[in-house]
Amino acid sequence: MTVYGSFPGARPRRLRTTPTMRRMVAETRLHPADLILPAFVREGVDEPVPIGAMPGVVQHTRDTLRKAAVEAVEAGVSGIMLFGVPEEAKKDAAGTAGTDPDGILQVAIRDVRAEVGDELVVMSDLCLDEYTDHGHCGVLDADGRVDNDATLERYAEMAQVQADAGVHVVGPSGMMDGQVGVVRDALDTIGKEDVSILAYTAKYASAFYGPFREAVGSSLRGDRKTYQQDSANVRESMRELALDLEEGADMVMVKPAGPYLDVLARVADAVDVPVAAYQISGEYAMIEAAAEKGWIERDKAILESLTGIKRAGAQMILTYWATEVARRLGR
Ligand code: PBG
Repeated sequence: MTVYGSFPGARPRRLRTTPTMRRMVAETRLHPADLILPAFVREGVDEPVPIGAMPGVVQHTRDTLRKAAVEAVEAGVSGIMLFGVPEEAKKDAAGTAGTDPDGILQVAIRDVRAEVGDELVVMSDLCLDEYTDHGHCGVLDADGRVDNDATLERYAEMAQVQADAGVHVVGPSGMMDGQVGVVRDALDTIGKEDVSILAYTAKYASAFYGPFREAVGSSLRGDRKTYQQDSANVRESMRELALDLEEGADMVMVKPAGPYLDVLARVADAVDVPVAAYQISGEYAMIEAAAEKGWIERDKAILESLTGIKRAGAQMILTYWATEVARRLGR
């Protein structure tokens, strides 16, 4: 290329000149079908309950959850990930409400399936923390530690009641060793070979889950550092990934998303199964709070955060903005 005096020989700015030019050369495109809506449903309430640290997100009643599911379908969202919030009095050390066929999550799965059928991929959180009185993701041993293998037995039962309720995909999120294999086995045993597993493969012990604890009314004693991963590690995630695939994961997930984009990129490069990322409650809260203060432009920041997650390698994104963003993107 001829270089004239001090003029640059290459001008990448040419491809940024107009909005249509920028759109044409865009390497990443968000689409409503990429999005999955996480939703909370609370037992025994007549009105949706706002979540203070997540403005715009509520604990749904059974009725408003059905409506939210229909709105998600209309917007073109692919899936919904359900979280149950039981009545406080129903929490116990074993998280019994999580395996009650009439427990709130199972009821919600049936409601949503009855309302939207297969129009949405219906997913459920498979974890005990919403149902235990101590707030941990598993059952405790005599010394108060989370007992891995005893917890696996509870997860197996949970998988079966969720599958019986009609869920398409279960999402084991407790980070117990062997959870994917045990859940696969439990599902196959009762003839639910078609229920898929979205494995929370790389799930970090994160301060950004804060608002979620309010969302599910969890009063966690201590922390989750003996089962969720240390934010310093990435090779560890590759090991978790290998194990989850070996145990039968159909899809894998990285969580949180924003602070772990490097992990997401590594995982996405390494696998040939669909990869999801979960933009969690704290990521949501930060943008909403800064926007409320007038410090950032909300709508642009939301799209940028989601584009970054997709660019890093997520094929599916769980985000509390799923329906809103899907509407904005159009089908
Ligand atoms: C565990 C679970 C958590 C989240 C999803 N599943 C909480 C935790 O691990 O502490 C967090 C989601 C969010 O923060 O948006 N059942």
